[in-house]
Amino acid sequence: MKSVFLIALIVALGSCQGAEVTEPLSAQGRSISSVIVDGLEAFRGVLQNGSPKYGLPVMAPMQLAKRSFEINSGEFSGTFGVENFELQGLDEYEIITMNVDVFRSRLTFNINFASVNFTTDYDVDMGSGYRIKRNGGAFFALEDLNIQGRISYSLGVFTSQLRVKDVLIYPSVGNVNSQIENLSKYRIFNRKLNEIIEEFVTLTVNENTDFVATWVSEQATPICNELIGDRTLSDIIAIITGGN
Ligand SMILES: *[C@@H]1O[C@H](CO)[C@@H](O)[C@H](O)[C@H]1NC(C)=O
Ligand SMILES: *[C@@H]1O[C@H](CO)[C@@H](O)[C@H](O)[C@H]1NC(C)=O
Repeated sequence: MKSVFLIALIVALGSCQGAEVTEPLSAQGRSISSVIVDGLEAFRGVLQNGSPKYGLPVMAPMQLAKRSFEINSGEFSGTFGVENFELQGLDEYEIITMNVDVFRSRLTFNINFASVNFTTDYDVDMGSGYRIKRNGGAFFALEDLNIQGRISYSLGVFTSQLRVKDVLIYPSVGNVNSQIENLSKYRIFNRKLNEIIEEFVTLTVNENTDFVATWVSEQATPICNELIGDRTLSDIIAIITGGN
């Protein structure tokens, strides 16, 4: 998703440079916004089909080969494995708002995902004094996932050097659906444990928004600038439009 925002931003700023100076700034902002919306609509196809030319795999649905992770954090150590993992819904987004404010050099947006979910078989083997061994199937969904954000940028007057100053992202989720099998061998406890997970994730996403926003900003700002690097605007547009 990071790359969705990145591409949106770059398209915005590129169009900004090319826009007629005589065009009123508010109209400029509107036309840039519609270019971004078109870009994001085209990007859906990249998610669905991948782009061999640019080494992008199909991401909707995204399948992962069997893999396992070693966990080693203090008291907890063990392995966590997934098999037959499939993530769905990254392409099922609706752009609610997309506004470019060329005066303030910022882009604000609101994008809604109907359901981002995964199914997988999992396998956990953890030791922490006692041993936890679990395996089974799992389904997990974030429904009505809303991503509101604001990206501030600067554009060098003479060099046209684009720099991202700040990325603020506020996610919220309407409903979390967790159906992980075999957390407990008793069906009623299993449901209870899933409910605890649903509540925990809902609260984490919806109530820690400032924390999440700050964290994303710290992480994403340098990553965006690094990704932009010396890649030209036409490279980015080629990825969006001619990717398949
Ligand atoms: C998972 O997400 C996809 C794409 O958003 C959606 O079509 C599908 O109904 C979801 N699966 C379930 C079981 O909710
Ligand atoms: C749940 O765990 C038991 C015992 O570890 C295992 O026999 C069973 O296959 C698991 N259920 C599923 C659906 O994988």
